[in-house]
Amino acid sequence: MSAHIDQLRAELLGAVQGAKDAAALEEVRVTALGKKGRITDLMKTLGGMAPDERKAFGQNLNVLKDEVAAALDTRKRAFESAALDARLASERMDVTLPVRPEARGTLHPISQTMDEVAAIFGQMGFEIADGPDIEDDFHNFTALNFPPGHPAREMHDTFFLAPDKSGADPTTAERYLLRTHTSPVQIRTMMTQKPPIRVIIPGRTYRCDYDMTHTPMFHQVELLVIDTETNMSHLRGCLQEFVRTYFGVDDLTTRFRPSFFPFTEPSAEMDIGCSRKGGELKIGNYGDWLEILGCGMVHPNVLRACGLDPEVYQGFAAGMGIERIAMLKYGIPDLRTFFESDLRWLRHYGFAALDIPSVTGGLTR
Ligand code: DAH
Repeated sequence: MSAHIDQLRAELLGAVQGAKDAAALEEVRVTALGKKGRITDLMKTLGGMAPDERKAFGQNLNVLKDEVAAALDTRKRAFESAALDARLASERMDVTLPVRPEARGTLHPISQTMDEVAAIFGQMGFEIADGPDIEDDFHNFTALNFPPGHPAREMHDTFFLAPDKSGADPTTAERYLLRTHTSPVQIRTMMTQKPPIRVIIPGRTYRCDYDMTHTPMFHQVELLVIDTETNMSHLRGCLQEFVRTYFGVDDLTTRFRPSFFPFTEPSAEMDIGCSRKGGELKIGNYGDWLEILGCGMVHPNVLRACGLDPEVYQGFAAGMGIERIAMLKYGIPDLRTFFESDLRWLRHYGFAALDIPSVTGGLTR
């Protein structure tokens, strides 16, 4: 009997070692330990044996069973780890290889400009805030001190969304619209953050207008600072620093002209020095002036609408068009080309994807 078991052991362990792959090994397992396997069959004969014989034979058989199971398991794991090694070898990649030189994707000048603006204000300690493109009348107008019926509302050529069908009175119901400027995010920020606040708000804006200098969708970046001792010279210094860094002209002069915006008091427009000689626009101290942005001290009514006490807090805000400052810096003559998705234009004006702008490392290539 035990000779029989020894022979079976040699046979089965040999088959385990000889299995060429996981499938062959599984066949060996079924042959040995499956329902109709050879060890299983022998187990079934135990019932018909005399007690002494059964005890000895049963023990031997159990030892054999465990040995075969262990051998199967070891071999199975060897197959698995070989398979994993093969896979790791075939999927291996060298992350130190340079970017494929034939990759032609470029960053759109709008993305590049937004990154540059964020790099400059980021270094001054500003954070980025954002808000929804679909706004309500309150955030886009009312809280920004555009009273209902105020003519300044009409200047915005607003895209209104269809009135909601909830049965609310259409004259009083909240109107939804595509935000006409990034200023509503000033309101959202002041209503949710405690001063001191120092944010820039880049994003898409929409107005129902289309010609050489207007597109229905365009981009703005908004600036907002709220603190307990903020004044107009902070505003001026901050914006001057920005335009000097952005245009790369260290001593670029700026000029403030009085203006009007409902949400600032006083309000101003800022000009930078330029030249238009020979029909060519150049940024620098050449005696001529170019309007670049709107700004002012946050109106007390706006602070109040956001629950801030104007006796305690003041601040400044500014807003400018991203396309406009991109056109000025990169010599892009026509606004509409920004949105035509013409690959030749994108290749010409686009930026290498890995040239990430920073104030110290350089803003452009
Ligand atoms: N929201 C204004 C516009 O779209 C731009 C602007 C002007 C924003 C002055 C400001 C500001 O924050 O202070 O025309």
